[in-house]
Amino acid sequence: MCELYSKQDTLALRRKHIAPSCKVFFAADPIKIVRAQGQYMFDEKGEQYLDCINNVAHVGHCHPEVVKAAQKQMELLNTNSRFLHDNIVEYAKRLSATLPDRLSVCYFTNSGSEANDLALRLARQFRGHQDVITLDHAYHGHLSSLIEISPYKFQKGKDVKKEFVHVAPAPDIYRGKYREDHTDPASAYADEVKKIIDEAHNSGRKIAAFIAESMQSCGGQIIPPAGYFQKVAEYVHGAGGVFIADEVQVGFGRVGTHFWSFQMFGEDFVPDIVTMGKPMGNGHPVACVVTTKEIAEAFSSSGMEYFNTYGGNPVSSAVGLAILDVIENEDLQGNATRVGNYLTKLLNKQKAKHTLIGDIRGVGLFIGIDLVKDHQERTPATAEAQHIIYKMKEKRVLLSADGPHRNVLKIKPPMCFTEENAKFMVDQLDEILTGLEEAVGAKTESVISEDTPCRTKMPEEAHSEPLSDGSPDPKENPSRKRNGLCTDKHSLLSKRLKT
Ligand SMILES: Cc1ncc(COP(=O)(O)O)c(C=O)c1O
Repeated sequence: MCELYSKQDTLALRRKHIAPSCKVFFAADPIKIVRAQGQYMFDEKGEQYLDCINNVAHVGHCHPEVVKAAQKQMELLNTNSRFLHDNIVEYAKRLSATLPDRLSVCYFTNSGSEANDLALRLARQFRGHQDVITLDHAYHGHLSSLIEISPYKFQKGKDVKKEFVHVAPAPDIYRGKYREDHTDPASAYADEVKKIIDEAHNSGRKIAAFIAESMQSCGGQIIPPAGYFQKVAEYVHGAGGVFIADEVQVGFGRVGTHFWSFQMFGEDFVPDIVTMGKPMGNGHPVACVVTTKEIAEAFSSSGMEYFNTYGGNPVSSAVGLAILDVIENEDLQGNATRVGNYLTKLLNKQKAKHTLIGDIRGVGLFIGIDLVKDHQERTPATAEAQHIIYKMKEKRVLLSADGPHRNVLKIKPPMCFTEENAKFMVDQLDEILTGLEEAVGAKTESVISEDTPCRTKMPEEAHSEPLSDGSPDPKENPSRKRNGLCTDKHSLLSKRLKT
């Protein structure tokens, strides 16, 4: 039995018993999902939805191998990590094998928020500093300690920025302070961090950590320019702080070419602490902090024990191990590269056709469509983005809009997403954009180059001829080229996943 209540009753009970700040997707017309498989979700009437946003269901909803592993271990034993058990050590060994050598000590937690909170504690204990540098629009979790370092949240609510928190500009080369026409945006953005460090020092403050997602997700699918993290790490280390890479959204092979997103930036960049969650358990609450021996020893030297009742329990570890196997056995990283490239190519054709699309950026199966009202000013098309996600829902495709202006369509589907799924999604989007443009009297134009996102004319200036079929067909995603990342190899940088 999939349903206890009619949809209407479920909604009424939710309104009565679930806190109003816990929001649903598509608030004006929520969906009731009763089951899911792979990249598809099904509502109470059996209608199938293509899931383009669920990066938690990483290897596919209800993957049979993951379900089997959980069930098998649940039948045998589930207890805490105070007893010796092979699952937790095997899992820690396998995870650390995916990371550079110096990242070899694991703390298992139940959520990305717990992982980031612990990462802050580790950083602060390491040298006794307190201050944290975070990026504008960042989100790192729902605990009090993380709302404090999440401008995505504290700038919207009543909370104010604490004196020990410093906000650096997001390294967004499309709508940030330094753009793709800047000669060296990586250095320019890193220098902003250096300036913050100098100002903090001048007022007697000391930096414990710089924290950033390897690619900003809630912040609008932002990919930092190559070289940025290396420079920031140099400045932060020089100030006695540590570099925390938040891979809660973007880890576990989503970028295709590498297992961890930070690895795209080159072998010479290694964070001091990596936090992970979401895809790690495919929906089961599993998360982790991985750090160096030195930092872990400094933490334990305080004498305080770290105990987490459910962290690293035998069932969670069995689930995590099964997911690592599926990623490898089904070549999901390879799939992320292949399908991601194909999807990006299709989307770039859409960009050439539709004036509403200002930028397509992404790597692997992490892609953003930045919608704009005009290409010159890059005015965010927020209302249009909301309209599109509701229309896509009518066409049974689940997408969401995020970023500071909520105008960036986020694509981060389960990693089993296929080329057929990509084509279907883009065809639906094409129809909706065409309808929207016809409704506002905008015309498509054929002069737009996919490599020159800002040259698109505003609708009223646009050509009246329909798009010729000479639309560009790029060999690669221009945003990858312009970010200068290492996307040329499908490999783990330092160690093999399989041990
Ligand atoms: C980048 C990032 N870090 C941390 C978190 C917090 O993870 P959780 O919701 O599992 O606590 C999130 C959740 O959305 C996230 O996006």
